[in-house]
Order: sequence, then structure tokens, then C-alpha cells
Amino acid sequence: MKKLVILTGAGMSAESGISTFRDSGGLWERYPVEQVATPEGYAANPKLVIDFYNTRRKELLHVHPNEGHKLIASLEDFFDVTVITQNVDNLHERAGNKKVIHLHGELTKVTSSLQPNNPAYIKTLSPDEYEVKMGDVAPDGSQLRPFIVWFGEPVPMIEQAICHAEQADIFVIIGTSLNVYPAAGLLNYVPDSVPVYLIDPKEVTIHSTRHVHVIREKASNGMKELKNILLNNN
Ligand code: APR
Repeated sequence: MKKLVILTGAGMSAESGISTFRDSGGLWERYPVEQVATPEGYAANPKLVIDFYNTRRKELLHVHPNEGHKLIASLEDFFDVTVITQNVDNLHERAGNKKVIHLHGELTKVTSSLQPNNPAYIKTLSPDEYEVKMGDVAPDGSQLRPFIVWFGEPVPMIEQAICHAEQADIFVIIGTSLNVYPAAGLLNYVPDSVPVYLIDPKEVTIHSTRHVHVIREKASNGMKELKNILLNNN
């Protein structure tokens, strides 16, 4: 089976009703990013940050994988699929994808404020625990924080993601403005001979001179088109 590696961003989940970040009306227009997505913001006002992610987390109970997520999952019948996502929702998993790498963390998990990347402290919440409160603590006694990679923090999963990008036979980018590194740099690890497809309804600036096959569509329609292309050519 050929190895298909798919990098997704907020646009992947837009048709499920989850806000993107940088489009007009996006999350970063409504919530100052330095308040809710930096370690400094968390130190200044932990309750505000915990509440922000409680709201995002509880949204998961009302949203569903869209046609685009489902089409990606359906490609597992034909390809060895790895999804590398910048999204913190769980819609790829719920659509049925078995290999999903979350570069920026997962809403369904919480961790220690002192050692956020220590596996011993990373805990998956059940839906009845989705409302994290001030005073809820990790086993090390520190406040439970969202298992989210904030700006300025290390991105531990990037190493694994790079390995997959280097071994890809086909590389696909869906619904990301490619503004945030190191995720945006993954394309640089994809071998030159590998076909690259990009699905996005808007123009995305790609910082690379390589040829990219652009499908100017939303994720669901774009994935329909891409599935046809992939099944006819492979
Ligand atoms: N289908 C596909 N793409 C879409 C759709 C759609 N229905 N709707 C919007 N898009 C595209 C936009 O045109 C844009 O290119 O999705 C992209 C969303 O870009 P951003 O909002 O910048 O999101 P993303 O690239 O995922 O952000 C990266 O930044 O804020 C941080 O950690 C956060 O993971 C996030 C990271």
C-alpha cells in the first residue's frame, strides 16, 4: 500500500461548525491569542484560559465529522493513511482514521501545569469531566491544564510528523493557512518526487518552489475530487 500523509488545519473542521482561526470572524478575532493561547496568558489568568478550552471542549459534544473527514477515513481501504493534524478536535478519530498525529494537542485531554508533556500526567477526559475547574489537580498537585500546545511552547509530536512526511508517497494539505511553524514547514521534508495536493477554498501562500496540485474547494468537495484522482492514478 502506498503511504498517504495528510496535513490538516482548521479549515478541515469548518464544515462541521468549528471556527477557523485567521479567517474573518475566526477565533483569534474574537479572543486575543496572547490571552488564551500562550503560557504567559495562562500564568496571568488561568481561569479565563481553562474556561476558554472548556467551551471548545464542550463544542465537541455537538459537532460531527463532515464528509471530508469521512472521505479521508475511507481512503484507509486503499492507502496506508497517516493524518497529521493541527486541530485539537477529535473529528478525524471519530470519522474512523486509525493513525492521527495531533501537533497542537487534544481538547479531550488535560495535563499537569508543571510538566505538560510528561506522559504520566496526560489524562483523557470522559464527557462528564469536560468542564475542568480551578482546583482540579494533576497527580503532581498542579492545576490541570488543557493538553494544548500554546504559542512559544515545544511541539513534541513534530519529530514523528517529520518522519511520516519524509516517507510519504503522496502528500496532501487541507484547510490550513500555513502560517504556523513548525507545522507549515513539513512540506519541506516531503521528497521532491512525491505528488503534493492542496485543498482550500482560498489562495494559500506556499513557501516552497515545488509543484503543488491545488484544488480550490472546501474540504468535503475537495476530498471528493481528490479521492477520484487518487483512485484513478494509483
Ligand atoms: N474547507 C477547507 N479549508 C477551509 C474551509 C473549508 N470549508 N474554510 C476555511 N478554510 C481554510 C482557510 O481558507 C484557511 O486557509 O482553512 C484555513 C484556516 O487557516 P487558519 O485559521 O490559519 O488555521 P490553521 O492553519 O489550522 O492554524 C494553525 O494556528 O492558531 C493556531 O494552533 C492554532 O492549529 C492552529 C494553527
